[in-house]
Amino acid sequence: MKVILTQNYEESARKGAEIILSALADKPDMLLGLATGETPLGVYRLLAEACRGGRADFSRARTVNLDEYVGCREEDSYSRFMSDNLFDRINLPRENITFADHLADPAAEVARLRGFFAGHTVDLQLLGVGPNGHIGFNEPDETLESLVHVTDLAPATIDANARWFIDGAVPTQAVTMGMGDILRARSILLLVKGESKREALRGLLESDAVTTRNPVTFLHLHPDVTLIAEKSLT
Ligand code: F6R
Repeated sequence: MKVILTQNYEESARKGAEIILSALADKPDMLLGLATGETPLGVYRLLAEACRGGRADFSRARTVNLDEYVGCREEDSYSRFMSDNLFDRINLPRENITFADHLADPAAEVARLRGFFAGHTVDLQLLGVGPNGHIGFNEPDETLESLVHVTDLAPATIDANARWFIDGAVPTQAVTMGMGDILRARSILLLVKGESKREALRGLLESDAVTTRNPVTFLHLHPDVTLIAEKSLT
């Protein structure tokens, strides 16, 4: 694992954006795996700026998102989050976006996305990590699932996500890529933001052990992971 330690989040976001922009320049039709949440926001702002400034062209790129809430309101969906923070700000064709539909039958979405991953390989997967070590919504448990599935969000995740929902109606289920789907990406970029991730990060950095109780440790099994975190978190 390549570890990049930074002075602050701005530097993390800049380095993350540089890695994505360089991958896009090398392969303009790349399949980019994307994450939602607070962590990637600075990266998305810089990608949008690069596109606006003519330094990035997403016209042939394709994207797939890690996860989506089940049965949430449109304004609370991750697909809306991505439109607001990235998709509406870059020249990515709508038809090149793959996303679980928050209103569709979750089992049908799982089948559709399993079909997608059977036929496509993600070139670069951007990840954040939850305070409990989850990646995507692969929550700590006795076992982890390999393929796209519906998951019950852990109480800690529901608490951590409550800040996004003014009325407190935090979704309790999501459709998520599985651990195998994530680990099949050609390369992985893990960005860590926030004090609450310190424990999960320590589990990853202080040992090469892999544990389902801290799913991010599974990244030890992948040959091409870049981790970007603020030095103060280590
Ligand atoms: C989001 C996702 C999650 C988040 C994680 C960190 O698509 O898959 O694993 O990356 O919960 O969230 P933030 O960045 O809000 O701290």
